[in-house]
Amino acid sequence: MLRKVDFVDITLTQLSDFISSLTMNERKYYPVPLVDVLAYSIYIRGYWDNDVLLGVGGVTHRYLFAFGQYPIVKEEYWGKGWGTKILGDAIAWIRNNNIPFTIFQYDSNNGASRRMHEKLGYNNDYRIGKHWVYNYVPFCWWARLLTPVMKLFIYVFHVTHKRG
Ligand SMILES: CC(C)(COP(=O)(O)OP(=O)(O)OC[C@H]1O[C@@H](n2cnc3c(N)ncnc32)[C@H](O)[C@@H]1OP(=O)(O)O)[C@@H](O)C(=O)NCCC(=O)NCCS
Repeated sequence: MLRKVDFVDITLTQLSDFISSLTMNERKYYPVPLVDVLAYSIYIRGYWDNDVLLGVGGVTHRYLFAFGQYPIVKEEYWGKGWGTKILGDAIAWIRNNNIPFTIFQYDSNNGASRRMHEKLGYNNDYRIGKHWVYNYVPFCWWARLLTPVMKLFIYVFHVTHKRG
């Protein structure tokens, strides 16, 4: 069965062109593989400055939960609050779709991403390996109870499923 993807303010062609347009700097901490984005996303939203697509936000999904979000902003728009808005919208989308919990994952060297998460109140992170920082964010009571188990699950999941 095909998975439904919620495309908001963006078409598949626009997404593909946007990803192709990303520079090395914009891909430095997250290479944004189109195949993986399409394989795992359940929500993809475009952000516009008139007719310029300045950023994209998305949510990837595994089993019951939102495995990650990927706010991406074109470099000329960095530092203006777009990343935080995009991430905030992705979290709102996750909540509104009754997904029980999410995991934020980012490269520990990605200072802008860390700051963006902090600005939204997510700094309760833990680290796996040399690079990856995670936040486990439960949205319902039973997901809160599962936290320690999920940390172990996430670790196993991460080392066995690198993509997405
Ligand atoms: C991460 C990203 C989305 C942030 O977008 P943005 O529009 O610049 O985000 P915001 O303006 O909302 O916030 C960025 C914050 O990080 C801060 N920042 C920028 N570079 C930083 C660095 N190297 N170290 C610490 N903080 C940094 C900014 O000053 C700003 O904080 P402030 O509002 O307190 O001044 C953007 O850098 C990006 O698209 N990067 C490439 C793709 C990527 O790595 N995505 C993240 C995947 S998890």
